[in-house]
Formats: sequence, C-alpha cells, structure tokens
Amino acid sequence: MQSGGSCIGPSRKRRAQDDKRALIVAYTFPKLTDYSDRELAEAVEQFRLALKTESSEIDQEVYDPALTPAVRQDLLKKFRDRWLGRKSGLFGQLNNLWLKNAPPDRKKHVGQFINQVKQADLPQVEQFVEERDLIAPQSSDAIRSLQVFDDVTTESGVDITLPGIRRPIGAEHPVIKTMHEIVSVFQKLGYSVAEGPVVETDYYNFEALNFPPNHPARDTQDTLFIAGQQAKPQRERLLLRTHTSPVQIRTMEKMHPPLRIVIPGQVHRNDPPDASHSPMFHQIEGLAVDTNITFGDLKGTLDHAMKALFGSSVKTHFRPSFFPFTEPSAEMFVSCFICGGSGRRGAEPCRPCKQTGWIEILGCGMVDPNVFEFVKENGYDPKKISGFAFGMGADRIALLKYGVDDIQLFFQGDVRFLGQFS
Ligand code: DAH
Repeated sequence: MQSGGSCIGPSRKRRAQDDKRALIVAYTFPKLTDYSDRELAEAVEQFRLALKTESSEIDQEVYDPALTPAVRQDLLKKFRDRWLGRKSGLFGQLNNLWLKNAPPDRKKHVGQFINQVKQADLPQVEQFVEERDLIAPQSSDAIRSLQVFDDVTTESGVDITLPGIRRPIGAEHPVIKTMHEIVSVFQKLGYSVAEGPVVETDYYNFEALNFPPNHPARDTQDTLFIAGQQAKPQRERLLLRTHTSPVQIRTMEKMHPPLRIVIPGQVHRNDPPDASHSPMFHQIEGLAVDTNITFGDLKGTLDHAMKALFGSSVKTHFRPSFFPFTEPSAEMFVSCFICGGSGRRGAEPCRPCKQTGWIEILGCGMVDPNVFEFVKENGYDPKKISGFAFGMGADRIALLKYGVDDIQLFFQGDVRFLGQFS
C-alpha cells in the first residue's frame, strides 16, 4: 500500500502532486531566438522537466487501482502519442521546430545537439512506456498487490518484484553417492559409521593388521610414505593409508565388543593414473565382532548387501584368497548385473565382467586372531569372540553402476560430466 510518510522518500502520489502544481500550463516548445548554446541548454532543461513531470503523472495513473484497465491503457496511449508519436510526438518535433528554423551557420551544431538529447532520453522513455504497457491492462487487485513494494522499487532503483537469481543446484558426486548407498544398506542392518585419518602410522596401516615388518604383502600396497620419517621407529612413521582397514584397529581400541561398523574413506596408493587406476580412491570397510560370529554370518550379510545394492536377482560366490588380517580370506564375486551373468550382451561380449558372468567386488574373511591380540585388553580375547571383515573399492562400484569407462572422469571436476548425475 502507498504510505504518504515513507521513510524512504515522498510517495509517488506526493511527487506527482508537487509536480502538477509546477506544471500550470501544458508544455509547448519555446521559440528559440539566437540558438546560442545557453538558449539551447535552457530549452532542453524545460523539455526534460516537462517529460519528467508528465511521466510521473502517467505513472501515477497507470498504477492507480481506482481506474479501470481500459482507462489506464487509454491514458498511457495518450502519453505515448504525445511524446513518441511518429509525426507529431514531441521528440519528433524537436527536429521540425528547432532544427528547421535554426540559422544556416548553426544548423550542424543544433542538429548534433538534438541528436545527443534524443540518444540520451529516447530509449529511456521507450522503456518506460514498454514497462507500463504491461501494467496498464492488469486488474485492480493485481495492481494493488504490486503497490506493496511501491516505494521500495521506485526509490532504491531495485525492483524487488522481479524473480531472484537462481543458482543451479549441485549434484552429489557419483562416488560419494555410491558410498552413501552402500553405507545406508549396512546402517539398516544396525551397523554404525566409523572414520579415521588419511595420514596414518605404519602401526595401524600394517603392523596391527598382522603385516610384520618386511612382510612381502606390504609391497602389494604400493605405499606413499611421508618424507623425513626415517629417524622415527618404523611403527610411528607416517604414510598415506593404503586401505581403510586401520580404522578397524582404531575403533576396537576405543569400543568394546560387540561391534558392527562400516568405514567409508579415502585411500592412496602409488599407482600411475589410467582408466582404472587412480593414486587416490575410496573404500568402504566393514567389521562385525561378537561371540560366535561365523563365516556363514559373513556370507549371509554380504549376500543380502549385494542384493540390496544391485538388485534381488544377483548371486554371490566366494573364492579363497589371502589377506594378512583375515583367516580364512576370500574374494567375493557378484553375478554380472550388466549381462545378467551370461557373459554376453546380445551379439557382443560383456566387457565389465570380461565375459565371465562374474564381477569381483570385495575382499573379506574372518578376523585373524593375531589382529585381536593387538586390542585384547579392550575385550577382544580371540578365545571368546570372533568376527568378520570386508573391504571394497567404492570408485570401481560407481564405475560399474553408472557405466563409466574411465575412473579419471571422477576426479577431473568437469561439470559437463558431473552434471549428468543431478
Ligand atoms: N584392505 C584390503 C585391500 O585394500 C581389502 C580388504 C580385504 C579389507 C579383506 C578387509 C578384508 O577388511 O577382510 O585390498
């Protein structure tokens, strides 16, 4: 609503009334006598004052909900004809009245002067009329609702009724999305989430996971070591963790059994980047410790998780393997969810499963009693409890799930790629 006493400035109505008083006689062109610069400047000043006054008046009328749309449109048309009319409009007449009668030696100068005035004012008046063209035909109610913002819009020059700037909503990164999905499958089974540092000590990354110093299995990890650690005892030396398994030990040090955790996180290995390797990637680890945990629990849990992730028709199978921290150890495969286990896609061979019908998804096994020895004082007596563990690469699963053929695409930050996941 219009408030006459707004703190921002006089309302449009008040201004219009003040201007009206000044405009006793309707504006007509003054007759110029000597065409001096001074005379021209004064004439333009009057022309502009008249324009300002009349636009203020018409503005008042176009925004007046007491008038009907037809009357508002009619008044606006009169204003347009008077100022912008092709032949008789006041802008058009500038040429006729001032230029034509100017003495020959002033013609060029007057012509330039008039052009400057037109270039400066004409587009503004045209835009002014165009905008009011949209307002005039509106219902009185619509006009009233616009006037809630009236003073703010006119005084500050910001039209707060315009729609704001929309920022595009980002998408969850496909790897993070996959990790959330996997974690949530286990959370529904009662698992909690644990996390640990990416810069890890040799002790947690290797020693407490039953990799003795100089054990050949350390080589397979292609570790990136932090420089300048030689002076420290080996177990204290820092490195970038090569797997999420150290968080098994860190959590067992803090929490008594029974324990069921999943551990998502970043890991690093000294692998040169190619379509399937990246020196930084992501894993999700799992650990369940309780009395009487068996390999059957491991198989049942993982089989359920794979069906939840890839669809209820996938099958799982386990092959013997070796990890220093589990005994027995296994690699788990799921039937290829791309070709349905047939190894073929129509006439083509199925590439993701290398035509075998099976995809290797994770490593797993029963927690080695030697691992429990490192946390025995916290209730993990291998004679009384048992547990299973598993670890999988999240990036590889995301590649398979979304049919992406180059892991590098995940880490290049190209919005054209990432935008496809929104
Ligand atoms: N840490 C192993 C790796 O990075 C994966 C793994 C295998 C984790 C077996 C486990 C496990 O917890 O039981 O290759």
